[in-house]
Amino acid sequence: MKVPGPPRISVFRDEDAMAQALTTRIAAAIAANPAIVLGLATGRTPIRFYHQFASLVEQGRVDLSQASTFNLDEFLALPCDHPGSFRSFMDTHLFGRVNLAAERIHFLDGTARDTEQECERYEREIVAAGGIDIQILGVGTNGHIGFNEPAPALEPRAHRVTLAQETREANAGLFGNDPSRVPTEALSMGMATILHARSIVLLASGASKSVVIERAVRGPITPELPVSFLQLHHDVEIMVDEAAASRL
Ligand code: F6R
Repeated sequence: MKVPGPPRISVFRDEDAMAQALTTRIAAAIAANPAIVLGLATGRTPIRFYHQFASLVEQGRVDLSQASTFNLDEFLALPCDHPGSFRSFMDTHLFGRVNLAAERIHFLDGTARDTEQECERYEREIVAAGGIDIQILGVGTNGHIGFNEPAPALEPRAHRVTLAQETREANAGLFGNDPSRVPTEALSMGMATILHARSIVLLASGASKSVVIERAVRGPITPELPVSFLQLHHDVEIMVDEAAASRL
């Protein structure tokens, strides 16, 4: 039996090297399991990875025709074709360039009338797909993963969430740099949804992430720092550039 150890930490010279290493890892995983189920994040951090990965697919070196994807989260009440939606983000940076089958791209629907039912639907679809093989995560400077914000208690499953002010500010780029236009709520996978992935890769880059990465690895496990829960998982790789690793 594999004894759980601390998260593996891989430090890269810069964001490009980090994206390259993740591209190589994911390409190898797909070669080994073409029907892979990937959990995907949006945000600034994975963009280079998506571009490098999409290039490999365009060159015919990776085949996504049997793969499935589940994104972590989506803003509430935004239609999927709204330019600020995470679905639009994924269409731009990955989905529009690769041969994923439309029916195997999964997203929480922020416009669903009954958000509770929508969250249950999403959890059921993850189970029906066989569970997530590799979950890719970014982390907020406040320690959120997905949109599981710091709180006295965390939600285990997909749920509706009120976004922290700093999270709305961090996402303002999708809304004309105006934080007040960022939706106040979102739907997100829960902490148990994330921890049930067979394998997790957390990406972080830049000096602004150095404190949260140090606390994620060395600090106590607390709902006030949701990323600290990754210490409970048996197969986590934390990929960081030198700036984000500077306090380790
Ligand atoms: C987005 C998500 C968020 C981001 C986090 C970091 O789908 O899950 O948890 O990963 O906010 O965002 P960036 O990469 O923009 O710093």
